Amino acid sequence: MYSDAHELAAGFDLEKLTPEFYANPYPTYRALRENAPVKRLPNGSHFLTRYDDLVSAYKSTRVFSSDKKKEFAPKYGDSLLYEHHTTSLVFNDPPAHTRVRRLIMGALSPRAIAGMEPDLVKLVDRLLDTMAEKRDVDLIDDFAAAIPIEVIGNLLDVPHDEREPLRDWSLAILGALEPVISAEAFARGNRAVKDFLAYLEILVARRRAKPGNPDRDVLTRLIQGEDNGERLTEKELLHNCIFLLNAGHETTTNLIGNGLVALSNHPAEKRRLIDDPVLIKTAIEEMLRFESSNQLGNRMAVEPVELGGITLPAGTPLTLCIGAANRDPKQFPDPERLDIGRTPNRHLAFGTGAHQCAGMALARLEGAIAISRLLARFPDYALGGEPVRGGRVRFRGFLQVLCRLG
Ligand code: HEM
Repeated sequence: MYSDAHELAAGFDLEKLTPEFYANPYPTYRALRENAPVKRLPNGSHFLTRYDDLVSAYKSTRVFSSDKKKEFAPKYGDSLLYEHHTTSLVFNDPPAHTRVRRLIMGALSPRAIAGMEPDLVKLVDRLLDTMAEKRDVDLIDDFAAAIPIEVIGNLLDVPHDEREPLRDWSLAILGALEPVISAEAFARGNRAVKDFLAYLEILVARRRAKPGNPDRDVLTRLIQGEDNGERLTEKELLHNCIFLLNAGHETTTNLIGNGLVALSNHPAEKRRLIDDPVLIKTAIEEMLRFESSNQLGNRMAVEPVELGGITLPAGTPLTLCIGAANRDPKQFPDPERLDIGRTPNRHLAFGTGAHQCAGMALARLEGAIAISRLLARFPDYALGGEPVRGGRVRFRGFLQVLCRLG
C-alpha cells in the first residue's frame, strides 16, 4: 500500500496496475488529478486526469489526432487486429472519419431511436419475466448483456439465431485494446476478427442481394452509401460494422450492470429513484459519470502543445482518463457522491467533440428502460455476495452480479 497521494501519483504506471486499483481506481485518479494531472508514464506517454484538459484534447482534432496507425504498429504488427482497429472510424481523423460517421449517424437519428422504444420495452419485459421464474439470477448474463446484443443485432438486422457468437467476438476484440495484453489475448483477438469478417462477408452478400430499409438498417445504409455517390470500400464497410457491433455491446452492458450495483450500494438513492421514477433521466447521467463504463480514451499530439504547464512535443501519445475527469471537483461539486438528481451533469462518459459517441442516445434509452423497469418490478432486488469485476482498466464493469430478486 502507498502511504500518501504523492507516492500514489508518483508510482502510477498504466502497464503495472494492482488488484487494489482494479477494485477501486478512484483514489489513484484523485491523487493524479491533484499531484500530477499531466503525468508522464514510463513508456513516454502522458496520462490526463483533469476535466478541462480532456475537453481541450477532445475538442481539437487538428492538434490531438485519433489516428492510431503509428501507435498500434508495434503492439499488433501486421495482423488482423491492426487492420481492424486502424480502419474503425473511432481511430481515424477526417476525412476518413467524417465519411463513415455521416453514414452511421443517419441511422441513429432521434427519430430512428424513438422508433426502437416499443421493441426495447418488450425485450426488457420478456427478460424480466424469465428472471421472475428463477428468482436467483445473474444481473449480467440474464439481463445487462442480453439487452445490447439484441439492440445492436436489430440495428444491423442480424438474424436472431446468428447472434450468439457476437458477444464473445466483441469481448475478445475490445479486450485487445487493454494497455498490456498477453500472447493468448492477442491470438484470441485476431481469431475473433477473422471469424467476424468471415461472418460479415456472408451477411453483406445477403444484404446486397436483398437490401433492407436504410432508415432503420445501418448495414443497408453503409452498403448503399451517400446520395452523392460516396461509398465505403469493402474493407471499411466490414471493419466499421464490426466496430459498431462492438461499440454498443460491452459499454451498454456495463452501464446497466454498474448502475444496478451502484444503486444497491446506495440504498437511499435507490429509494429516491423508486419513489420518484421521473428521476431516471438524471439517474442514468449520474451512473454514466460515477462509474463510466468506458474509462479511457486516447489521442496523439501532432504538434507541440501545452497542457497543465507542460509542453508536450509532437508525437506524444496521450491517455484521456474519463473516469478521473468525471470526478473532478472543479466541474462536479462533491464528486465522490452518487446523486441521482445531479444537474447540471456535463460528464464525459461519451467523450465530446467530433468523435462523441454516435450511439449515446441509444445507450441512454437502453439504460433508462432497463433500470427503471427492473426497479419497478423488483424494488427489493439484493446482491448475493461480491459482484465479480471484469478486470479491465479501459472498460469498467462486472462479469457476474448474482442477485436475489426479492
Ligand atoms: C453506455 C454506453 C456507451 C458508452 C459509455 C460509449 C462511449 C463512447 C466514447 C467515450 C466514445 C468516444 C471515443 C473517442 O472519442 O475516442 C464513443 C464513440 C463511439 N460510440 Fe459509443 N458508447 C456507448 C454506447 C454506444 C452504442 C450503443 C453505440 C452504437 C449503437 C456506440 C457507437 C459509437 C461509435 C460509432 C463511436 C465512434 C464515433 C466517432 O468516432 O465519431 N456507442 N463511445
